[in-house]
Amino acid sequence: MQYGYFDDARREYVITTPRTPLPWINYLGSEAFFTLLSNTAGGYSFYKDARLRRITRYRYNASPLDGEGFRVYIRDGETVWNPGWQPVQTELDRYQCRHGLGYSVLEGAKNGVTATQELLVPNGDDCLLTRLTLRNDSSGTKRLEVFPYIEICLWDTMDDSSNFQRNFSTGEVEVCGAAVYHKTEYRERRDHFAFFWADREPDGFDTAREAFLGVYGSPARPRAVFGGGCTGSIAHGWQPVAAQQHTLLLPPGGSVRLLFGLGYIENPREEKWERPGVVNKTRAEAMMARYADPAAFDAAMDALRARWDGLLSAYQLCSGEEKLDRMVNIWNQYQCMVTFNMSRSASYFESGMGRGMGFRDSCQDLLGFVHMIPERARERILDIAATQFPDGSAYHQYQPLTKKGNLAVGSGFNDDPLWLIAGTDAYLRETGDWSILDERVDFDNDPALARPLLEHLRRSFDYTRTHLGPHGLPLIGRADWNDCLNLNCFSEHPGESFQTTGPSEGPVAESVFIGGMFVQYGRAWVDILRHLALEAEADAAQRDVDAMVQTVLSAGWDGAWFRRAYDAEGRVVGGAACEEGQIFIEPQGMCVMAGIGVETGEAAAALKSVEERLDTKYGIVLLQPAYTRYRLELGEISSYPPGYKENAGIFCHNNPWIVCAEAELGHGDRAFAVYRRTAPAYIEDISDIHRTEPYVYSQMIAGRDAPSFGEAKNSWLTGTAAWTFLSISQAILGVKPELDGLRINPCIPGKCRGFTVTRRWRGATYRIHVDNTAGAEHGVVSLTVDGAAVPGNLIPPAAPGSTVEVEAVMG
Ligand code: BGC
Repeated sequence: MQYGYFDDARREYVITTPRTPLPWINYLGSEAFFTLLSNTAGGYSFYKDARLRRITRYRYNASPLDGEGFRVYIRDGETVWNPGWQPVQTELDRYQCRHGLGYSVLEGAKNGVTATQELLVPNGDDCLLTRLTLRNDSSGTKRLEVFPYIEICLWDTMDDSSNFQRNFSTGEVEVCGAAVYHKTEYRERRDHFAFFWADREPDGFDTAREAFLGVYGSPARPRAVFGGGCTGSIAHGWQPVAAQQHTLLLPPGGSVRLLFGLGYIENPREEKWERPGVVNKTRAEAMMARYADPAAFDAAMDALRARWDGLLSAYQLCSGEEKLDRMVNIWNQYQCMVTFNMSRSASYFESGMGRGMGFRDSCQDLLGFVHMIPERARERILDIAATQFPDGSAYHQYQPLTKKGNLAVGSGFNDDPLWLIAGTDAYLRETGDWSILDERVDFDNDPALARPLLEHLRRSFDYTRTHLGPHGLPLIGRADWNDCLNLNCFSEHPGESFQTTGPSEGPVAESVFIGGMFVQYGRAWVDILRHLALEAEADAAQRDVDAMVQTVLSAGWDGAWFRRAYDAEGRVVGGAACEEGQIFIEPQGMCVMAGIGVETGEAAAALKSVEERLDTKYGIVLLQPAYTRYRLELGEISSYPPGYKENAGIFCHNNPWIVCAEAELGHGDRAFAVYRRTAPAYIEDISDIHRTEPYVYSQMIAGRDAPSFGEAKNSWLTGTAAWTFLSISQAILGVKPELDGLRINPCIPGKCRGFTVTRRWRGATYRIHVDNTAGAEHGVVSLTVDGAAVPGNLIPPAAPGSTVEVEAVMG
């Protein structure tokens, strides 16, 4: 069952009922000011950091769901309704929500009035704009009372939702004309404020929540809307809000447009005040002036569309397969931008209060984003590297506002260092900008410890090389990619962190997965060293990589698949002899991607085992059999009921690893079959089972052991976005940037007769036509570049600005 449809021409998903199985959201903003917006206009805004600079409030996990947002109430006689249905939930005569790239449009109609609420965050500005258009389609004049309403957050959302003894006394606002200024804590250490404005003087306002809603009122039945109107309240402490009342008379056929804004301003400290106690509003006034002309909103929308045209044009596919083109050309790339911006901080599942930017997460997000805005990827790599410790280990997370490592979780996740090589390698392959390796970057955020980025990569590699366990495999530390496999934790008390309890550096527990990573990204490191003509170091690194290949093939091989790990007692995890958890997906994907066992047959055997043991109709589960009881020696993974999360859920993130692995072996049919099983556009018609948005990936789909098999959770912020884009664009369609050229190496279903990819790379445009009349699954037999035959399948970089025609024939 579906709740809407894709409109590819407009690059929108159109939702046709407000009663989606869960709120289906969109992200507005892609620089500093962000808004999460649901299909009923729920959501919240923040500046840069969802925890430390929250602008509006949101209560997670409440009932009814999605209570706070960017609400507009319309009172038409006795009827009160919202264009997005929530929160009053008056049945609408017509409803539609279009989620586009960086904007959303909600349209509701009731009793002859159509209200269109268009929301966007303009390029280069720190505000959310809402344009409300009201049209009277009835035959009589309409007198409408219109109330925009937001609830303000007192900046630090953790404090805002817990420290009431203080924050019930701190809230402060100023009202000036059509604007409400939120200035809590501005009197002391904050030099920033937020403000809500309308492009016309309101007929009333409220800034105290209890005045607008009523002490025992609710957003579903605000006192001011259902009777009485706004009171002109000024918030002193308690809960500041911004609400206005606009009285509008609409003749038959008449329409009116109102613009509402929500802005964020930083003032230089010496320019904070206009006069004692009164905020200097010069910058806010300038912002309002920028959007005073009614044409400014359209211009902002046009600029947004133009920006996305440019971003998406870096990779465009024409395959003749509608669902595939839609994922590759629009939604997968869009989600990559969002994961790059948010890491795992703020969604409808991630509260934005907890983790900031993850070290491993952000490095992986780069893999799917780097082709869009390489300069921002560059900056991100340097920020991440600055949270690395001098010994090569790393803070597991950092806050985006401060860019400082997060002490609470600390370090000890032993896969983290190698992801830095992965992200930097992707950047180098995309851009050829070797100067990044010379950039001096702090260790541990300490400028006194700054060294060139190259040295950071060296220490990443060395950290793994020098932290090996009894079998010669890398020590796992607190956890590797799988945060829930906690082999050094032994947590027995409720409430303890699974990751940070127990010794972080067990001397025994080892990870086969990190062994695979060491080979995969160790090879990348060797290539980088060779490119820099550091031959002796490259040779030594190559020997370490070769040795690890052998170790993985001996200690890491179980007979029909790769083992997962050795626990703190040296017992196998993920082997046929285990009672439960006999086979895990991660080492199969990573080791085969790394090329381990490709020539000697283990790779093919491992992937066969995945197909036989882990495949389900909704995707590949993480392990089998699921753990049915808590196992002290394994930690959080066994805390989940079977079929959920890392305990045999379909963890979407590592499905594309299998796609890449299958492509490594040239299995085009299987690679694509795995790809399409979790690709949102292909499963749109089971939205009632899947429940999350049909235009983006979710972190997890309940596995076959779960009662809710097929139900997804944690949509949007997942490494799945980057990895699926990599798997489809580089492994299946086979257009892969390398250090010295663009490799054309498709691995596609035999029945696919060809496709065209337009790829912008290092300033030139490549139009790559792949001809598969032969019906092959892999292998390029001839390649021409601008009509001239090229040996092999590597295209050297063309002159920036040029357009290159490439013909690749498979066979
Ligand atoms: C984390 C990732 C981790 C994955 C698997 C996600 O929630 O953000 O860093 O790799 O779970 O445990």
